[in-house]
Amino acid sequence: MEKKVFIFDTTLRDGEQVPGCKLNTKEKVQLALELEDLGVDIIEAGFPISSPGDYESVNQVSRVIKNATICALSRAVKKDIEVAAMALKYARQPRIHTGIGTSDFHIKSKFRSTQEEILERAIQCVKWARNFTDDVEFYAEDAGRTENEYLARVVEAAIKSGATTINIPDTTGYCLPHQYGEKIAYLVAHVPNIDKAVISCHCHNDLGLATANSIAGVLNGARQIECTINGLGERAGNTSLEEVVMILKQHKHLKYITGVHSKKLNPLSRQVSDIMRMPVQPNKAIVGSNAFSHSSGIHQDGFLKDASTYEIINPEEVGAEGSKIVLTARSGRSALAYRLQCLGFTYNRDDIDVLYESFLVVADSKKEVVEEDLFALAQKYEPVNVAVA
Ligand code: KIV
Ligand code: ZN
Repeated sequence: MEKKVFIFDTTLRDGEQVPGCKLNTKEKVQLALELEDLGVDIIEAGFPISSPGDYESVNQVSRVIKNATICALSRAVKKDIEVAAMALKYARQPRIHTGIGTSDFHIKSKFRSTQEEILERAIQCVKWARNFTDDVEFYAEDAGRTENEYLARVVEAAIKSGATTINIPDTTGYCLPHQYGEKIAYLVAHVPNIDKAVISCHCHNDLGLATANSIAGVLNGARQIECTINGLGERAGNTSLEEVVMILKQHKHLKYITGVHSKKLNPLSRQVSDIMRMPVQPNKAIVGSNAFSHSSGIHQDGFLKDASTYEIINPEEVGAEGSKIVLTARSGRSALAYRLQCLGFTYNRDDIDVLYESFLVVADSKKEVVEEDLFALAQKYEPVNVAVA
């Protein structure tokens, strides 16, 4: 029996916090519609108390989205929660996301408070939010650096107060995957009412571990992942939606499913990148321009014999343009023959051996050998020993 993992997209909230990525209401509405189309379960549309513009965005997103739950962020502050509830007024399925920092770093340095006071504030904010909706998510900010025993007390109290989702953020991206996984396992084992709530992973990427930590969380009992398109988010970003979705899809033996339509991943990645003016690094998993490019001779030869030797995902499955054989000075004869054949020039093996020497001279002089160079090569060799297909 497959277990559903809820995909909570926070591109419009945590992702949009990135300097330069701010979205206006029209852009948020446009992306929210795309996210719904992608099949995410929850869209965190913004932080309504933060600005009138963001209030308006959450309000407008709430009006247009039909199937996904719309979530609004708040601090553990009455006014924040009230404003979040007002902004969500038109949402068919509204969720208030409220919470407070629980690590000593937050309790002592940020709040200059005590564990008991913070526990009380956690209880109060959840209770207050429940006045407006039955769907309340509680976050224990910096849970990654919060001692498990205290975290378990806070989580138990938040659930008792009415929280239906419990978010365990690794706010600073500090945890190692086994530590984050153990944290979730600890909560599953030590919080008596944990079965009344969905545990959510919200991992940041400061050490490049956000995706690994989220998966470790799921393997240990979490059933929701908070993530963003292209892994956008504060500092080094959040867990990348496309990565967790494809990990769960590719590892079928784990028996987890999401509602995401993977063919839409690449088109939406490009759209988000364009609207936010935030380029995607070429080697980004799933959506980078090199994610399905093969450039070394050994790889190219294997790939051309059987794609699955060097590709674990069919590019079509994630809406990518297709696999590419890129020619550089590290490329081999098979790749050269293949690319020439794509242009209509078929050579036998001996011809390719000769042509390859000239190819290397060109390849050593530049980063990539492009079509124009191939035409020039074909031109040069045609009179001697070429058989055009
Ligand atoms: O990273 C974090 O802790 C957050 C919370 C506000 C959920 O984004
Ligand atoms: Zn965050």
